[in-house]
Amino acid sequence: MEISRRDLLCTLCAAAVACKATDGGPIDTLPDDTDPDTDTDTPVDTDTNPNTICIDPGTAAQGWTELPLSQYPELADLYGFVYLTLAGKQIVIAQVEEGCYAALERPCTHEGVAIEYRPERNGFVCPRHGAIYAWDGRVLAGPPPMDLQSFPCGPRDGSVWILVD
Ligand code: FES
Repeated sequence: MEISRRDLLCTLCAAAVACKATDGGPIDTLPDDTDPDTDTDTPVDTDTNPNTICIDPGTAAQGWTELPLSQYPELADLYGFVYLTLAGKQIVIAQVEEGCYAALERPCTHEGVAIEYRPERNGFVCPRHGAIYAWDGRVLAGPPPMDLQSFPCGPRDGSVWILVD
């Protein structure tokens, strides 16, 4: 049976919400340091960002890519993050909760500017017009017309594993 990325993410998000009812609160302050000329004042409803992305990753045989913490030590720390390119895609990976990772494609769906992870706010923002994306890539605020692609990502045996297709 073939499962779509959207179905997989929905399943993962539902499982995460079921096992943890709290949300990623700090993200509601994200727009503060965006360009004042282009920033939006759209309030962020933190209820729309409830998803933690805590999963057990798959294996290399299943197409997952291993990122050893010895090569990416930033990912060992809470709020640590890296920018990298995998399968031709620019990706940001961040440890958004203890042992839980979010991984998003970086080009903003508005005008393609690379989004950034802001550890002090534990959120993803676009520096051009202040868009805010949830940990699962959903647009929370700003002008982007569509969500970002997100990738399943999780820790195992001293590595972080990510599924990029
Ligand atoms: S390029 Fe406009 S919000 Fe990202």
